Order: sequence, then C-alpha cells, then structure tokens
Amino acid sequence: MTGPAAAETDHLKSKMRTFNTIKIFLMVGILCVLVLHLYKDFIEHSAINLDMDVQDDKSHVQPAKNKSVVFSWTRCQKNISAANISGFSSLPDNIKDFLLYRHCRHFPMLLDLPDKCGGAEKSAEVFLLLVIKSAPGNYERREVLRKTWARERVHNGVWIRRIFISGTSGVGFEKKRLSSLLKMEQREYKDILQWDFRDTLYNLTLKQILFLEWMERNCPNARFLLNGDEDVFAHTDNMVRYLQSLKDNNGNTHLFTGHVIQNVGPIRSPGSKYYVPVQVQQSDTYPPYCGGGGFLLSGYTASVIYNMSQSITILPIDDVYMGMCLAKAGLGPSYHIGVKLTGLHVPSSKLDQLDPCFYKDVLLVHRFLIPEMYLMWQRTHDPNLKCEL
Ligand SMILES: *[C@@H]1O[C@H](CO)[C@@H](O)[C@H](O)[C@H]1NC(C)=O
Ligand SMILES: *[C@@H]1O[C@H](CO)[C@@H](O)[C@H](O)[C@H]1NC(C)=O
Ligand SMILES: *[C@@H]1O[C@H](CO)[C@@H](O)[C@H](O)[C@H]1NC(C)=O
Ligand SMILES: *[C@@H]1O[C@H](CO)[C@@H](O)[C@H](O)[C@H]1NC(C)=O
Ligand SMILES: *[C@@H]1O[C@H](CO)[C@@H](O)[C@H](O)[C@H]1NC(C)=O
Repeated sequence: MTGPAAAETDHLKSKMRTFNTIKIFLMVGILCVLVLHLYKDFIEHSAINLDMDVQDDKSHVQPAKNKSVVFSWTRCQKNISAANISGFSSLPDNIKDFLLYRHCRHFPMLLDLPDKCGGAEKSAEVFLLLVIKSAPGNYERREVLRKTWARERVHNGVWIRRIFISGTSGVGFEKKRLSSLLKMEQREYKDILQWDFRDTLYNLTLKQILFLEWMERNCPNARFLLNGDEDVFAHTDNMVRYLQSLKDNNGNTHLFTGHVIQNVGPIRSPGSKYYVPVQVQQSDTYPPYCGGGGFLLSGYTASVIYNMSQSITILPIDDVYMGMCLAKAGLGPSYHIGVKLTGLHVPSSKLDQLDPCFYKDVLLVHRFLIPEMYLMWQRTHDPNLKCEL
C-alpha cells in the first residue's frame, strides 16, 4: 500500500495504539482503586479486631456499645477417621453424620443480637432470659410465643427478655427462603440468634453450646434463664415469682431445676429417635439431668456449664449433655414439681383438660398446640378467673 491509503492506515494504527494505551492506563487505574479499597477494608477489619481484643480489658476507656462479632470460621472439615470406627457403615445416616462432624463447634453467625441485654455490663438488669430452641420453619410458633408467655416485659419489677436460637433448614432455594424469613422477623422483633449449621435433632447440643458462648460474650450477668422448647406452655409470671422467692440466690449461685430424669442410659435400639449407639457413647449410664422441654437455671450455672463443655466431647442429646457438664463440675439438677414435661394430670376425663385452674400455678407444661397456647395464656390471665381451692 502506498500514498494516502497507507497514510490513512498508519494514522489508524497510531489511533489504535493511543486507544490501547488509554485502555491500559484505565485498567491500571481501576486496579489501583481496587487495591486501595481492599487495603482500606483490611485496615478497618484490623481495627475491629483490635477493638475485640481489648474488649475484656476493663481499663479500656470506651467500651464498645454494640460489638457484633463476626467470626469468619473456615468451614469445619469432615473427620474422615471417624469412618474407621468399627461398625460405622451399618449405623443410620444421621449417626454417621454426627460422628463425622462431632468435633465442629464453631459456625458463622447469620443473625446476632449484641445489644439484647444492653451490653455485657448492663446485662445484670435482665432477670429472666427466655432461650427458646426454634427451627427456622416454625414461624407460627414464634409468633404465638411473642404474644403470650415470651412477651418481653417488666413483670413484678424485673425484666423478661426473649431469644430464639436457630440453625438453618433445607437446601438451595428453601434454605435461602427460610433464612430470609428469619431475617425479616429479626428486623421486626430483634429476637433471633442464628448460626449456619443444620438445625437437626442431633445438632441441638451444638446449638446450646453456641448459645452459651454467645451469652458469655453478650449477656454474662443475666440472673436466670429458661431454656426450653417452643411447644411448651411456660408460665413465665410464676417463674419470676419463684425465682424472686429464692433466698441467697440472685443468679450468682447454682440453680438448675426442672423435671429430673435419672438412672437411665443411652437408648440402644436403632429405631428410637434418641438412638445412641456404643460408637457414640460407650458407657451405659447417663448422669442425672433435666428434661430438655424446659428447665430453669441461674446465670452462674450457665457459665459453669459453658466452661465444662470446653472439655467434654459432644453427645447428640442436648439435655443429657447439660447433665454431663453439671456432673463434671460436681453439681446436679434439682426437681421442681411445677415443671410437667409429661403433661398435666387432670383427675377426670369429664373435666375440661384445658381448664385454666389446672394451669394457673404451674411453671411449665409440655406440649401445647398453637391455638391452645394463646387460649391458655389469655385464660390464666383473666382477672375474673375463679378457681375453687
Ligand atoms: C451499632 O452502633 C451503630 C453506631 O453506634 C449503630 O448505627 C447501629 O445501628 C448499631 N447496631 C445495632 C445492631 O444496634
Ligand atoms: C482407616 O484405617 C485404615 C486401616 O487401618 C488405615 O489405613 C487408614 O489410614 C485409616 N484412615 C484414616 C482416615 O484414619
Ligand atoms: C476423628 O475420629 C477419630 C475416631 O473416632 C477420633 O479418634 C479422633 O479424635 C477424631 N478427630 C477429631 C479431630 O475429633
Ligand atoms: C450438624 O450441622 C453441620 C453443619 O451444618 C452438618 O455438617 C452436620 O451434618 C449436622 N449434623 C447432624 C447430625 O445433623
Ligand atoms: C468460667 O471460665 C471463665 C474463664 O476462665 C471464668 O472467668 C469464669 O469465672 C468461669 N465461670 C464459672 C462460673 O466458674
């Protein structure tokens, strides 16, 4: 090519070169901005971490108001040696799963409530913290509890606070849907702790340990706790009255009371919901414990249990595990006649089984349907309620 055509081409080429140079400059520029941004993020995170590190230092002038701790735990890996345990392959899938992940104790928090108790310092103002095990899908259960016995309020001069503790359910879209449901509820009620682990029966111990760890961090001085299921009728007014009547215990000494179960051991029949094979626990006995439907404990005892749990291998049955932690600390549960986990005995089938007079003095009864829960709470609080005896 010669003449104007060649000149034209050269011109074009040089234009292209300029264009390419600009492109490179632009890209380098973008990269620089990105790196700077990441670096800034890093610095900020380090600052947050520093804040966390000095959290316990009482000399620190400005205690952080709300310290939402977002640990980025690396995903806990399967323990493949567990598959070498004799008889592993013949165990039910949920037990296999339990053995493979038994050692995992830390999971990312999806929903946190760092200010639930007004911060660690002020948490002594929480007299009764209701800690309710709830599966993500059980929206109606949570709703009725918010309206009835778990309503946050001052009763008889002291604060009652509520927390639902939850994992995740389902997979794929369903898991996402259920987690966004909890997120929406959280926006409205601020009463959910959620961690990213599968919310299954055999993971309940994990749920309890994660809660106790949260409590140690965010609510260490709460006086008492009710720890229980979402399908119990808990007469929280009566609980406050009972706890206030305790002499020499303002939450700072041992209390662990409910429906005591003792002289039992692991159920060895594979068909049972609570099957615990020898591969999970060798010993044929369990220490005394309170049925997990609902029990009351002091903040002190919660702290003891958490400390003991650090060195006790997880057993999938959560209420038994609590008993193990108590036993290791040389403590035990006590029986409270007001906690009726096997239901309430109504003397005649001709009587209304849900007559409020049978329920007005209980602490806790297992188990209630959702409409019954609403009905009973209203009925036992009817100012015109008249009962004989
Ligand atoms: C934490 O504190 C910041 C600033 O003090 C506030 O904007 C934010 O809403 C607080 N978060 C919660 C969860 O209370
Ligand atoms: C399981 O046992 C086999 C045979 O004893 C051994 O070779 C293998 O390393 C073990 N696997 C693990 C993960 O411990
Ligand atoms: C893995 O499982 C084996 C067999 O049960 C056990 O001996 C080992 O302690 C487990 N490892 C961890 C990290 O828990
Ligand atoms: C407990 O949760 C973890 C994390 O989601 C999961 O890997 C494990 O399978 C669960 N265990 C049981 C017994 O469901
Ligand atoms: C639990 O352990 C922590 C840290 O070691 C300690 O500060 C606390 O007093 C212990 N709690 C009880 C009730 O012993």
